[in-house]
Amino acid sequence: PSTAPLQGIQALVTAGPTHEAIDPVRYIANHSSGKQGYAIAAALQKLGANVTLVSGPTNLPCPAGVTRIAVQSALEMLAACEKSLPADIAVCAAAVADWRVDKIASTKLKKTSATSLPKLNFALNPDILASISRDGPNRPGLVIGFAAETEAVEENAKSKLARKGCDWIIANDVSPQTGTFGGDNNTVLLVDQTGSESWETMTKNAVAEKLAQRIVEKLKLNT
Ligand code: C5P
Repeated sequence: PSTAPLQGIQALVTAGPTHEAIDPVRYIANHSSGKQGYAIAAALQKLGANVTLVSGPTNLPCPAGVTRIAVQSALEMLAACEKSLPADIAVCAAAVADWRVDKIASTKLKKTSATSLPKLNFALNPDILASISRDGPNRPGLVIGFAAETEAVEENAKSKLARKGCDWIIANDVSPQTGTFGGDNNTVLLVDQTGSESWETMTKNAVAEKLAQRIVEKLKLNT
């Protein structure tokens, strides 16, 4: 076996949160650290893949040998992903905001009085994972999504697999007591059409390496 089993393989990984601007100084965001997605990008690169990491704002350094495209919003993330296709594998680990503010104010919203409050209207963001999973010449052979759940993890992951049209879902419990968001450990369930497999709690780096290994095995079966 080659030491670089993913040599010649093009991988697209999304990671981190998105920032949805309200005005020039404010935004709506979430607690995603980007750690899991970055670890996956690094693990795939180590196995020889050519990795493009489309990342929302994080404090993480770009893994060695990985091409990073930094974005802020979901719309920017989708555009960067589309530019990065075709790819053989896509792993969507980003915590994309479901909604954006429909009209970003061009100047800072002012506190005009003690009683008047700003009104924000929202628009639905595109689902990047579902969009990448859609059939077409650019659909990667293996599309992997994440499901951050706080209850009924397996059940929700299975319906998400069907809804998004991806091949695998990595489901994790992000209830506050698990410390997954921002933490170094993750407890996940790998769900595909045929069933699910639960992995013991391990570091996000170990999850990434195990996932990269699974990807190698899957690509071997397909060739
Ligand atoms: O629907 P939900 O947000 O729970 O799905 C999570 C999965 O979908 C993750 O893989 C995430 O990266 C992806 N996603 C996306 N674009 C969105 C929302 C979620 O790619 N707008």
